[in-house]
Amino acid sequence: MAADIVVIGSYNQDFVWKADRFPKPGETIPGTFATGPGGKGSNQAIAAARSGASTAFVGAVGNDTLGENAQALHKREGIESHLAIKTQAPTGSAAIIVDATGQNQIIGDMGANLELQEADVPESLLRKALIVLAQPESNPATIRATLHKAHELGKITILNPAPIAENFDISILNAVDILIPNELEFATLVRLTPACRNPKFSTEDLFTLNDAALHNLCRSLGVATVIITLGNQGCFLSEKNGHRRFSIYHGLPVVDTTGAGDAFIGAFSSGLIQFNNNIPKAIQFASIAAALAVSKSGAAAAMPKAEDIQKHLSLAF
Ligand code: RIB
Repeated sequence: MAADIVVIGSYNQDFVWKADRFPKPGETIPGTFATGPGGKGSNQAIAAARSGASTAFVGAVGNDTLGENAQALHKREGIESHLAIKTQAPTGSAAIIVDATGQNQIIGDMGANLELQEADVPESLLRKALIVLAQPESNPATIRATLHKAHELGKITILNPAPIAENFDISILNAVDILIPNELEFATLVRLTPACRNPKFSTEDLFTLNDAALHNLCRSLGVATVIITLGNQGCFLSEKNGHRRFSIYHGLPVVDTTGAGDAFIGAFSSGLIQFNNNIPKAIQFASIAAALAVSKSGAAAAMPKAEDIQKHLSLAF
């Protein structure tokens, strides 16, 4: 089987508590509990597959029931799943709190995800792919090596640098065609990139910039296409030949923002194929996917299907 989109990334079991608000340090508050599949990589693969692209996923899970659930989930979703079973670590897990406004806070134990090795990534998959999409939530060294290999093979490489740490190795950007950070990740990349000449740049600084200045900063990262997702402020596209803002898709309730970025990125990748590499059209498609995802609870469970996105697309544009 040949998949157009190959996602190299993480799988987690999400343990989610919903409460009216986030607890203060030392405080106990009541909430309701649910559990379901998550992990940025797997969420993005599910978003890509549900929104219409043939998709493969490469990741690592523990030798445990949660890992078996991952296999079953990907089979149900029609994803070509290559899950390496690691005996030295459990399947990744995430503790998530969602407040009444739908905002979330997440703590993750990446477990087996960090054991993903280059040898676990079948080269034949990369060779047949159109797009290779990755995030550093699993073993960053494997992600870096795989994106470099995909880039050398001439594939479209997409990096969602989430989650990002202050020791993030920015050399990976040399292998990236399309970079999709959120505002926090973008600010960290600016601090880490010497060409940006702004080692103290913050998220607050980002929101004070006009579009031309933000575009210049994006250009300093050395990546052909940068799409900064800005929460309820939509997103900012910077390409070699210009920049443009996109607003969010309004009209749907905000229930749970967990996985909103994953819905956007998976659907964007799928939209790129569907719309023959037309980036603005893929962004519009992805914005609707993200709005649909936040209107439901859960991460993977909330990823929208192609027909639902299409229905809203015809209403919106
Ligand atoms: O982006 C949301 C995801 O981040 C959750 O599903 C959680 O598992 C963490 O990886």
